[in-house]
Parts: sequence; C-alpha cells; structure tokens
Amino acid sequence: MNWLTNTFGSSVGKKLMMAVTGLFFCVFLVLHLAGNLTLYMGKDAFNSYAEHLHSLGPLLTLAEWGLLTFAIIHISTGLFLFYQNYKARPTRYAVNKRAGGRTLGSATMPYTGVLLLLFVIYHLFNFHFVDKTHTTIFQIVSNAFAQPGYVLIYTFAMIIAAVHVSHGFWSAFQTLGANHPKYTPFLRGLSLVFSLIVGIGFGFIPVYVSLLV
Ligand code: HEM
Repeated sequence: MNWLTNTFGSSVGKKLMMAVTGLFFCVFLVLHLAGNLTLYMGKDAFNSYAEHLHSLGPLLTLAEWGLLTFAIIHISTGLFLFYQNYKARPTRYAVNKRAGGRTLGSATMPYTGVLLLLFVIYHLFNFHFVDKTHTTIFQIVSNAFAQPGYVLIYTFAMIIAAVHVSHGFWSAFQTLGANHPKYTPFLRGLSLVFSLIVGIGFGFIPVYVSLLV
C-alpha cells in the first residue's frame, strides 16, 4: 500500500495519472464524435444512435461513473501540479518567451482545461440532464443550435478543446515514455491531426444543425 501512496503522491506519479486519464478522454472524444457524426445522416440515425447507447443500461452507467472518476482525478491533479509550478516560480517572466518548444497549447493548458470543465458542465445541462420523455435527442440538439448564442458558445468551446488536446495528446505519450527523437516529431504531428479532427469534427456540428433548422 505504501508504494501506491509513494508512487501517486510523487510528481512523476501525478503526471502519469494525468497522462492515463487524459488519453482515456481522447478515446472518449473519438467515440463521442463518431456517435455525433450520425447527425449528418439525419434525425432518425441520430435518435437511433442515442437509443442504442441508452439500451446499454448498466454498462452506460458504469462508463459514466468511470468518466466522472477520471475527470475528478485529471482536474484535481492538473490544478495541483499547476499550483506547485506556480509556487516554485519566484518571479513572473518579464517576457513571455516561446523558446524551449512552448506552443499556444502548452502555455495555456490550465486555462483551456478550466474552460473545458465549465463547458462540460454547461453541456451536460443542455443535453444530458434534460427531460427526454416527450421529445427526442435530435429535437433537443436542434432546438439548442437554432439559437445563435449556443452555436457561438459551442464553436468557441470546440476551438478551446482542440487547443487543449493539441498539447495534451502528445504530452501524454511523452510522459508515458515515448520521448525519443525518432518518435517525437511523429507524435507532435499526430497530436496536431487529432486536434484538427476534434476542432473541425465537433465544431462544424452546431453550424450544420443551425443551417438545418
Ligand atoms: C458539437 C459538439 C457536441 C455535441 C453536439 C454533443 C452532443 C451530446 C449529446 C446529444 C449528449 C447526450 C447523449 C444522451 O444522453 O443521449 C452528450 C453527452 C455528453 N457529452 Fe457531448 N457533444 C459535443 C461535444 C462534447 C465535447 C467536446 C465533450 C467533452 C469535452 C463532450 C462531453 C460529453 C459528456 C461527458 C456527455 C455525457 C455522456 C453520458 O453520460 O452518456 N461533448 N453530448
């Protein structure tokens, strides 16, 4: 038991937890995007996807609790590491240097992370914690995106998600040991492609639905 607290209590252990839970969310994003893309096939396809998802019953509940647990670990560890780094830096940098491989994604991780958390809470209250007895999920989504405010917020949130994963994806692999001159350029490229898939794939949905209604 002692090794467990020692491992996960250390900075390396915390970074490992960030990496594993972060990659888990990347898998979730791929599955969620695949499901959402059925929207392009029309309302019946989207409603039928949602029905299939809900027919998983206890399995879906288990996946939801897993998501929540991983989210709590990822967010609390991320905030803790941010606070530790902040405390360890005696003075703020006078000039914000982009040297040392710093990118928009890496420099803004805690901020894009907090914005994403706010988005997910907002998103769950839009589409998940809603009364679905006399309506369909397609109706709920199209009612939302008929309003320009929702389209704007969702499109902005998808840009934030893309920026967050553009660094998070390859950084997770680096933490897990794929830190080699041979693999790093490939992983950075893959990370960029993944962030574009997330940004464009999710980001175009609100615009498309708003044009339909
Ligand atoms: C245009 C973008 C998106 C659309 C249209 C969308 C749509 C939906 C819909 C319709 C549901 C409810 C499914 C149901 O209960 O039947 C849902 C659930 C959810 N979405 Fe999204 N989503 C989008 C982006 C995202 C993003 C970027 C994230 C994460 C960062 C996310 C996280 C979640 C989570 C955690 C759930 C709850 C899953 C569950 O408990 O089953 N969504 N989404």
